Amino acid sequence: MVLSLVSLCAKEVVGDHSSSPSWLRWVPRELYRSLLEAAFASCRPLAVGELVQRWPERTLRVGGRRKQGQTAPNRLCIQAMLLAIVRGLSDQRCLLQLLDVSGLQGDEGGIGDPMGGWSLTVALCTMVVQARAGAQRAQRKGERERKRFSVLERERDVKRERGQIDQFNGDKTNNSERTVPGPAGEEELVKGVRRRMEIHKKSEQPGLGGGKTEEKHEDNEVLVHVRADLFVNARSWERVRVALNTSGPLNLQCRYLRVEEISVSSIRTLLDLLSRRGVLGIDIRYSNLGVAGLAELLPLLSTFPALNSLRLHYCNLDFRRDSQEETLRELSQGLANLQELRRLSLTALRLPGQLRVLLSSLPQPLEILELPYLSLSPADLAYLSCSHHTATLQQLDLSENRLDENTLTSIRRLLSQASSTLQHLSLSGCGLTDGLLGLLLPSLGCCCSLKSLALALNPLSMAGLMDLMKMAVRMPSLRQLLYPNPLEDYQPGLPDLPSSAQLLDWPLDETTDISATSSQLNRVLIDSGRSDLLLTCDLLNYDKDLVD
Ligand SMILES: *[C@@H]1O[C@H](CO)[C@@H](O)[C@H](O)[C@H]1NC(C)=O
Ligand SMILES: *[C@@H]1O[C@H](CO)[C@@H](O)[C@H](O)[C@H]1NC(C)=O
Repeated sequence: MVLSLVSLCAKEVVGDHSSSPSWLRWVPRELYRSLLEAAFASCRPLAVGELVQRWPERTLRVGGRRKQGQTAPNRLCIQAMLLAIVRGLSDQRCLLQLLDVSGLQGDEGGIGDPMGGWSLTVALCTMVVQARAGAQRAQRKGERERKRFSVLERERDVKRERGQIDQFNGDKTNNSERTVPGPAGEEELVKGVRRRMEIHKKSEQPGLGGGKTEEKHEDNEVLVHVRADLFVNARSWERVRVALNTSGPLNLQCRYLRVEEISVSSIRTLLDLLSRRGVLGIDIRYSNLGVAGLAELLPLLSTFPALNSLRLHYCNLDFRRDSQEETLRELSQGLANLQELRRLSLTALRLPGQLRVLLSSLPQPLEILELPYLSLSPADLAYLSCSHHTATLQQLDLSENRLDENTLTSIRRLLSQASSTLQHLSLSGCGLTDGLLGLLLPSLGCCCSLKSLALALNPLSMAGLMDLMKMAVRMPSLRQLLYPNPLEDYQPGLPDLPSSAQLLDWPLDETTDISATSSQLNRVLIDSGRSDLLLTCDLLNYDKDLVD
């Protein structure tokens, strides 16, 4: 990564915190962003706090996709930023209106102590509630002061009428309230002037003018919208509920909602509290929904007009047990109302033969479909290969569904339908032998957009792997291949057709040189000049998103 001169200087400047009082007020606003980036990158929480408290722009984005080599912001820096947001609410210099931290949740315990989604959510909720309490305190204090300094106020009103506060052009300035700071020694309680004026303009109603309306505006006035991905579990549910239901100077908006281990009624409560427009994705995990619970939630999900992603992960959806006609019909109708859905991920449902119920009523064709551990039946795969989703699929995950001769025709049809769009495919743990994979290779080879292919935990021999390699090097867009350890690398005693669990658990043979396999495969790469294709058998560290 090449650093610009600005970022090199910024790093030096934020490095010496003791000098910041002397330079901060001379820094032009154009440099705040570089300074903040430098403060995050070199983990300077005090500098982060000072910059954010005076943030000179309307928007502050932290998080999102990081450039290669950048680590997630450190926990202390995030905490300093959140505290500074609250301080900034009563800082005249702060112009912030939107804090966007969506995409910030690094994995907890990663490099550089980032802040995970769970604790970030709790911290954001605490901030929202604190800001509300602070605003109430300031308001009470303001009322006391107002009485004490009503004379001063009147003078100010007179001045205003004379048009003396006119530095912010536009005819609205005549009605703007610019609170004068209290007398010497009193803490300033003024807010960013421009921010207040902009908000005031928006909420201004004809007939309400002059300083007397000030308190009314202030009561539930949102000064900063906070946009974030929220991670909620049973322990944090109550706190999130309170924060979402708080009307104060900070307003929490959710982009992606992920909930774990909470009940249908608690999920309902949360969904009811979210503002409708901004929610893009909902991810429900380890919650005992049941098919009826899901059918109950779907009408609520359809009230989020931008919802494009739904993930259900171990939600105890057992179609064999609860597949009453009525419930299935409700489910199908509920799904039919998800107008923008493009991504559907279902893990560990027990729905053999019912895939059609879930997918056929979706109004839009899906781009991302993840169906691992679903025990898909031949009928499911046959339906899928002819469904309206195939021609648009960019990502398909069918891992841990056992494939055999009977289902292979469907998979081949599916791949040929999706051949121009499919970018990521996982067939890990599908029981693909040399023979089955051989039948599939021509269809795989036609997927001209494929960037990543995962085939871990399939019972392939070294010969089967070599066939796979020869095909892979002829796929120009392929950047990543996750291959299984060949059967020859395992200790003796593995059953003839081992399951993926057996392939995962069975010890590899220490006496054979594992790296021999990798160097043999890599030789194929070198011989064909494909240095752009990454080979790995490391299931745990495989990340298809690395190639995007
Ligand atoms: C303020 O209002 C007065 C009339 O009430 C008007 O003459 C003056 O131009 C206004 N000032 C601004 C800055 O619009
Ligand atoms: C939200 O707060 C109001 C009072 O401010 C209360 O009546 C309502 O029950 C709360 N809703 C939830 C879901 O907590």
